[in-house]
Amino acid sequence: MNILRHFAKKILAFKTDLFRRLEKPMYKKMGEFKVIDKLVNDFYEIMSTDPVAEDCFATHSGKDIRESAEKLKYFLSGWTGGPQMYLEKYGHPRLRGRHFPFKIGAKEGDQWLYCMRKALLKSPIDPGVQEELLRAFEGITKLVQNQD
Ligand code: HEM
Repeated sequence: MNILRHFAKKILAFKTDLFRRLEKPMYKKMGEFKVIDKLVNDFYEIMSTDPVAEDCFATHSGKDIRESAEKLKYFLSGWTGGPQMYLEKYGHPRLRGRHFPFKIGAKEGDQWLYCMRKALLKSPIDPGVQEELLRAFEGITKLVQNQD
């Protein structure tokens, strides 16, 4: 009986969680694609000009930054619950695998987050939502880190 109640509770919690996500996906909370577009433009503008982020920027050497920015915008659209633009154009993001060719340590990860924090501050995104995003980005920087 207890087990049944336990599972019923779990299913209810899962459904509530799912409903909340459907009701207010991050994509909507952020302000949809126009905000993602500005956020990523600011992010790469900061990364390419702020000396604090030079190691992170250096990993992009030889890359067309406009293309890198477009990929990040497309990824963020789908990842936040909006249109799956990255998936449609490039397939599954496989973020860990796609970052393998670049030297990414804790330093590069911190610099990536530094640029994103600055770009978020320039965005119209609600401060609580900015924090939520930063926590999630922190998780991805750990995922793509491939050396100390
Ligand atoms: C930890 C620090 C990070 C560094 C140094 C880094 C560096 C890079 C570099 C050099 C590229 C290749 C750019 C290109 O192909 O034009 C790239 C691609 C990409 N990065 Fe990162 N990245 C980092 C973290 C992240 C995070 C946190 C995200 C997601 C929130 C992300 C999402 C992407 C995406 C979607 C691509 C495109 C992948 C592809 O199609 O090849 N990266 N990154």
